[in-house]
Amino acid sequence: MSENKFSDQFIETVRNRSDLIAVVSEYLSLKKSGQNFVGLCPFHIEKSGSFSVNPSKQFFHCFGCAVGGDVFSFVSKIEQISFPEAVRRLAEKTGVPIPSDPENRSEATPAEKEAEILYRINEEAALLFHHNLIEQPAAQSARDYLKARGITTETMKKFLIGFAMPRRDDLMKRLKYPPALLEKAGLLRKGDTGLYDYFRNRIVIPIQTLQEKTIGFGARAMDDAQPKYLNTSETPLFTKGKNLFGLNWARGKKTLIVVEGYFDVISLHQAGVSNAVATLGTAMTEDHLRLIRRFVEKVTLLFDPDPAGVAAAARVAPLFVAHKMDAEVVTLPPGLDPDLFIRKEGQDAFLSKIKQGEPLVAFTIRQTARTASASITDKAKTIQTLFPLLHKMTNHVEQGYYLQLIAEVFGMEEQDVRLDFDKPSVEGNRRSVSEKVAIVPVLKSRLPKNEETLLALLVQDQLEYDLLAPISPNDFTTQQTQTIARFFWDEERNAWTHPNVATLKEAAQHSLFSELAVLEILNENRSRLTKDNVASVQKKRIAQKTLQVQGELKSAVRIGDRQKAQALQQDFFRLKKELSQIGSLHLHE
Ligand code: UTP
Ligand code: MN
Repeated sequence: MSENKFSDQFIETVRNRSDLIAVVSEYLSLKKSGQNFVGLCPFHIEKSGSFSVNPSKQFFHCFGCAVGGDVFSFVSKIEQISFPEAVRRLAEKTGVPIPSDPENRSEATPAEKEAEILYRINEEAALLFHHNLIEQPAAQSARDYLKARGITTETMKKFLIGFAMPRRDDLMKRLKYPPALLEKAGLLRKGDTGLYDYFRNRIVIPIQTLQEKTIGFGARAMDDAQPKYLNTSETPLFTKGKNLFGLNWARGKKTLIVVEGYFDVISLHQAGVSNAVATLGTAMTEDHLRLIRRFVEKVTLLFDPDPAGVAAAARVAPLFVAHKMDAEVVTLPPGLDPDLFIRKEGQDAFLSKIKQGEPLVAFTIRQTARTASASITDKAKTIQTLFPLLHKMTNHVEQGYYLQLIAEVFGMEEQDVRLDFDKPSVEGNRRSVSEKVAIVPVLKSRLPKNEETLLALLVQDQLEYDLLAPISPNDFTTQQTQTIARFFWDEERNAWTHPNVATLKEAAQHSLFSELAVLEILNENRSRLTKDNVASVQKKRIAQKTLQVQGELKSAVRIGDRQKAQALQQDFFRLKKELSQIGSLHLHE
């Protein structure tokens, strides 16, 4: 990714015109608290506000998940776009003219250029397919098919549903791009007799990203041709485990209904259920959750109450628990998928089903019990397969509730279930310990308080460099604090300095930097605070040096090196004196 698409000067102009508080407020509500504004973090699920924005430094940081940065990183993270793209958006928003001369923009990388072309190809193919469906005489059977499924012309237009002609080179001839690129976009395949159109004589449904860019297609046969659906295989733009069909229309909805099929989504939308999305022939993945968790609070999953559905629920339940995202399961009557159900029963009946959803974990437990055999040994084993899921929970009340449920539905004593659950020897229990660590959010790093305070003052531009003169970055005792200190240190002049734009940009990549930017500094007297903390850093250094000298002195005495011992003795007294001077200078005034 070319970070330097725009000049530093341009980036700084855009930064100065942008207000992080206003930008963040478009996504979540912020409340003033001390020197900062705080709110619920949009990058992880939480119930208390760990997300802080410092209005004067224009930095944000979440103490829950350690994500932080400046206005550009906020926009790029929340919109999932590149850094240059974020700069461009903010420039447009704040009315800073975007420079187009090559001096201000370096070339896009080859991969970016190729992606650009692949997006265009997909877009043009979608329009062509759609045009076929609406206009071509050969598409009559497709139009009839859709009509028979109750799809209106309006819906065809909204979803840009199309038709791929039966010929093996229709698209190849009509899209004016090198065949190799069309192949890379997944539209052509190579066979024994050369390249041919991958989608032929099928209804074609474009799959779009949140940003409404077409990245692939699902193509349904209108007869018994196999497979029923042909999908774009993996391409540089398209990965099925990372995209959800229909998400571009569900954008901004706080709850999502996740179904299995393209036509389920289309049919639900047509009936007015506009938060339906479909996975593309896979179970929900971690990537899916990452994609939706910044705007979605709850997901309703539609599963069949058969063994396949139960297995699917058991597979995704740990994901939802780990990400602390609420999920419910709804089951429809046998033989009815959401498409058939809503056409038969209507929107109200569907929505009332959705309202009766059962929490995913409870569903998983209940259905697992239903399908378990009656033998006690088997039951005990089955119960153990559920433990890892419960171990992922960080909330004891919740955990306790589900242990009770397990006991109840398996017909066991809760006490016994609990004993097994707490046993560290059980395979599932042991494994879950490390998993638990992995999902607990990174809490505020534990750093030496004095160093942290000094760095916060530096980052927030609230101290005079003169007061720092007695110490250097080497006096900071952890790697993390030293790294941040060095951003404010001029190696050549051996002095504290204001970081330049390039240095700041690099510094802003560090989570600790944004954390320091939003750290609340309570003491009003900044120079007193600086002096005290400089003194304590100095004292620590001298104390350490003293220890070292003492050690060397001991061994010099032991081996009878008098000269060395004498020199060390002097060092020792000098250090003692230095130490007492610092104390009297700053701490006992
Ligand atoms: P279903 O077979 O349940 O299809 O597959 P559906 O969506 O109800 O299809 P209609 O109503 O008969 O048209 C569910 C999803 O699984 C994927 C597709 O994403 C489909 O929408 N699938 C299914 C495939 O990718 N290939 C197939 O051959 C079948
Ligand atoms: Mn169906």
